[in-house]
Amino acid sequence: MAAAFNSTVRLAQRPTGLPDASTWAIADEAVPALGAHDVQVRVDYISLDPAMRGWLNEGKSYIPPVEIGAVMRAGAVGEVLASSTAAFSVGDFVYGSLGVQSVYTGAAKGLTKIDPTAAPLPNFLGGLGMPGMTAYFGLHNVGQYKDGETVVVSGAAGAVGSVVGQIAKLKGSRVIGIAGGPEKCRAVVENFGFDACIDYKSENVGKQLRALCPKGIDVYFDNVGGEILEAAIANIALRGRIVICGAISGYNDMAGMKGPRNYLNLLVMRARMEGMVVFDYVEDYATAQAQMLGWMQAGKMKLTEDVRSGLRNFPDVLNLLFTGGNTGKLVLKP
Ligand SMILES: NC(=O)c1ccc[n+]([C@@H]2O[C@H](COP(=O)([O-])OP(=O)(O)OC[C@H]3O[C@@H](n4cnc5c(N)ncnc54)[C@H](OP(=O)(O)O)[C@@H]3O)[C@@H](O)[C@H]2O)c1
Repeated sequence: MAAAFNSTVRLAQRPTGLPDASTWAIADEAVPALGAHDVQVRVDYISLDPAMRGWLNEGKSYIPPVEIGAVMRAGAVGEVLASSTAAFSVGDFVYGSLGVQSVYTGAAKGLTKIDPTAAPLPNFLGGLGMPGMTAYFGLHNVGQYKDGETVVVSGAAGAVGSVVGQIAKLKGSRVIGIAGGPEKCRAVVENFGFDACIDYKSENVGKQLRALCPKGIDVYFDNVGGEILEAAIANIALRGRIVICGAISGYNDMAGMKGPRNYLNLLVMRARMEGMVVFDYVEDYATAQAQMLGWMQAGKMKLTEDVRSGLRNFPDVLNLLFTGGNTGKLVLKP
């Protein structure tokens, strides 16, 4: 049945620092009419991603900023309620850039059908979705990971980090996580199977890395940047690789972001640091998804989502990413 109204979260103004309630305009709106080649989708789960903070800034990036007044951009999954294209039928489940709203009405182009019987829907936003693909291609293609190497992952209890560590463990690595707080560190070791986890909020990360990786770090998967990146550079092994996946410690103050002071250790150790954007691997997603699904079904991969409810809670729930309030993939159910 077609939806009666649409609850939306639109960008009201560009934030300075951490976004707050004044960043957003939340309203109930009429559902627009379906045009040609359109679909109407009930949005079931919305992906909340650190990258969203970057999309609020004006200026050039790998993707254009969200315009003021526009529905906030977000990946999401949901069920097709109405369709004017042969590509999708009512009852199909889809993934795509559906936005932070309860009902998407618009182009069907760019949406992908998903099979809701293969896995729980939130998995398609986590390990089977963009964060899982980031972990998979970041570790293999950018990190040039070889079985059995020593791997260190920051943001280890999060969507990307928890998957990176599990893949490396599956392939015989020694894997050290870095996360904030004793509870998260326990989850990293006990739930996700890492060998150890450093609590960067209470421990000296550099000292702990030296103790836990006496032969140095072969692959450092960086989700956070800042001082933790410096500590990893200081402990990189000969010909080690650093995957620059993200730098969440600086997202709310991009102008104040500082580079690693000790980057010349890359020269000394003939090491390499390389950035990645997951969308470069889109043509190979299906292969990686099949692999992830296989590991999940064999009980070798735990996908964890942190599901919160209520579209109106979006401003607070989004900020959990920056205060460390989430464990696993952060998802909002409108
Ligand atoms: N390059 C790409 O294509 C791509 C694609 C997807 C994601 N990413 C990046 O990957 C990273 C992880 O994303 P995700 O979706 O998996 O998020 P996530 O790890 O699930 O959530 C973010 C986590 O970052 C940690 N954090 C926040 N502020 C921090 C700080 N100042 N210092 C250290 N840690 C901090 C918090 O965990 P603690 O409690 O442990 O502090 C928080 O829970 C982000 O940098 C994101 O931008 C990149």
